[in-house]
Amino acid sequence: MSEIKTIGVLTSGGDAPGMNAAIRAVVRTAVEYGKRVVGIKKGYSGLLNYEYEEMGKRSVSEIIGKGGTILYTARCDEFLTEEGQQKGAEACRNLGIDALVVIGGDGSFKGAKALSKLGVNVVGIPGTIDLDVSSTDYTIGFDTAVNTAMSAIDKIRDTSTSHERCSVIEVMGRSAGYIALWCGIANGAEDILLPEYYDGNEQAIIDHIIRNRHRGKKHHIIINAEGIGGSVEMAQRIEAATGLETRATILGYMQRGGSPTCRDRVYASLMGAKAVDVLCAEGKENRIIAFQHGEVMDYDMDEALAMTKTVSDFEYRIAQIL
Ligand code: ADP
Ligand code: F6P
Repeated sequence: MSEIKTIGVLTSGGDAPGMNAAIRAVVRTAVEYGKRVVGIKKGYSGLLNYEYEEMGKRSVSEIIGKGGTILYTARCDEFLTEEGQQKGAEACRNLGIDALVVIGGDGSFKGAKALSKLGVNVVGIPGTIDLDVSSTDYTIGFDTAVNTAMSAIDKIRDTSTSHERCSVIEVMGRSAGYIALWCGIANGAEDILLPEYYDGNEQAIIDHIIRNRHRGKKHHIIINAEGIGGSVEMAQRIEAATGLETRATILGYMQRGGSPTCRDRVYASLMGAKAVDVLCAEGKENRIIAFQHGEVMDYDMDEALAMTKTVSDFEYRIAQIL
């Protein structure tokens, strides 16, 4: 294995609070090792278009508390093609990048794997508010996103109770219900609809609302994951069936922004530093950084991408009881 002189870093897919902390840690740790750092802008799209900047310790000053990503991010359809991936590998060689750190979700990791098969040494750091990366218990941004959503739902609950209404609140999570489940538990929702479990039985929700009203409950919060969607129509159907005023709120992109929580800042920093350690101190190739059993660790990329995970049955069952 040849010595790493230059490390590239990019953020890809949906942005997540804490990505800046990870970039900062990658840059500062790499500089500490005496490496050159190239920041690629706009994910794989910027790699294909040679949009990059040289980075040093000062270029990441005062970003740890900022949401979003200073490197910008993008979804890049061209990179889904073999030609796009080859162009990406060639761009890494032309820019003198000996190893590339990709901060993103499972889609971005598939792109990382494609690059690794073309001879680029890539290390992935899990960054997505959705928590749906199989090889890790923690992904950068989830903690901030669930706290943002939780606070918003608390506020909706206040007004919903005052008006004795039902509320359908849609939270993010295209194909994973982790945000919905965590908010369901944290906000004490009456119903939690997850793509992993929901069978489309709206009558069961309606019956639940009516039972609760007879027991004297003043509100009924239904947390609906984006992957199920259709919250506005659902609220209309519930109102028609129960005769109770029902409102829909789609929390949307507010969940992806904002200053990262302490946990997101610290774990993102540890993961960023670990990615560089893995490359520069441990001499490893093609790894995925993870947080498992209370520790930051790394997996072989193929092994990590072959893993699967789903919402915990225990957590879901407890959410129903509580
Ligand atoms: P996330 O990384 O947050 O899951 P996406 O699924 O949108 O977000 O993936 C981000 C980008 O990663 C895509 O726009 C594409 O450029 C790249 N990507 C996704 N899937 C693949 C794939 N199967 N092969 C190569 N690149 C991929
Ligand atoms: O980052 C993950 C995510 O927020 C999903 O929960 C959501 O479905 C998706 O990104 C939305 O992405 P876009 O920015 O393309 O609308």
